[in-house]
Amino acid sequence: MAVTIKSEREIELMRQAGKYIAMAHAELEKEVKPGMSTYQIDKIGEEIIRSYGCIPTCLGYEGYPASLCISVNDEVVHGIPRKDRFVENGDIVSLDFCLSYKGYQSDCARTLAIGEISDDAKQLIEVTKQCFFEGIKYAKEGCHLYQISAAINDYADKFGYGVVRDLVGHGIGREMHEDPQIPNFRQRRRGMKLQAGMTLCIEPMINMGRADVAFMDDDWTVVTDDGSLAAHYENTVLITKGEPEILTLI
Ligand code: MF3
Ligand code: CO
Repeated sequence: MAVTIKSEREIELMRQAGKYIAMAHAELEKEVKPGMSTYQIDKIGEEIIRSYGCIPTCLGYEGYPASLCISVNDEVVHGIPRKDRFVENGDIVSLDFCLSYKGYQSDCARTLAIGEISDDAKQLIEVTKQCFFEGIKYAKEGCHLYQISAAINDYADKFGYGVVRDLVGHGIGREMHEDPQIPNFRQRRRGMKLQAGMTLCIEPMINMGRADVAFMDDDWTVVTDDGSLAAHYENTVLITKGEPEILTLI
């Protein structure tokens, strides 16, 4: 899938899709309570997305069976919602999902604290979020992709965290995953030069321990190999000639 440069009309639709996914996250975050199953959270999320007239596009994507990816504690991403998996006080829970509005996709992820979590877990969530903001300092026309990757990697390194290498950020538009790939770790090549009108998902996935991950038998859920906690923070971003426009923050 090639890199696409969006027209003004397409950018406006990407903005609307972004606004809806930000609203969906905000609504959903208020609903998540200790004792809920990840299946229940998925159903609430799907309902919220559909209430805006949007389509939950993870559902059925390469056979994925739910609307949301819900990843608890040592699960990094792509946790499949389950009736027998409950979120409890002290857990950290990553909610990651995509939706489409009038044919345009948006993708956004947040890691939430359930009740009282440890200071270490709080720091992991904050640093993962800050990794995104370090990365987007270079998300503008004329910069090269590796600058984003290096900025994320450098910031995570300061805390001794593991930067997941097996999954990367991506372009987005009419398709959920478009080129280019956007690694969160330092690259040898400088990668593509960014241009105004690109829409990109920048999504650091950061482990408290080592960077290695494993894939579970369900073929989707990605977990840290060492069992340490993992956090995820993702926004869909519009590249401009100046500062990037974060489409999925309201
Ligand atoms: N936001 C996820 C990503 O960019 C969506 C994965 S597709 C799913 O990787 F099918 F797993 F939901
Ligand atoms: Co994504």
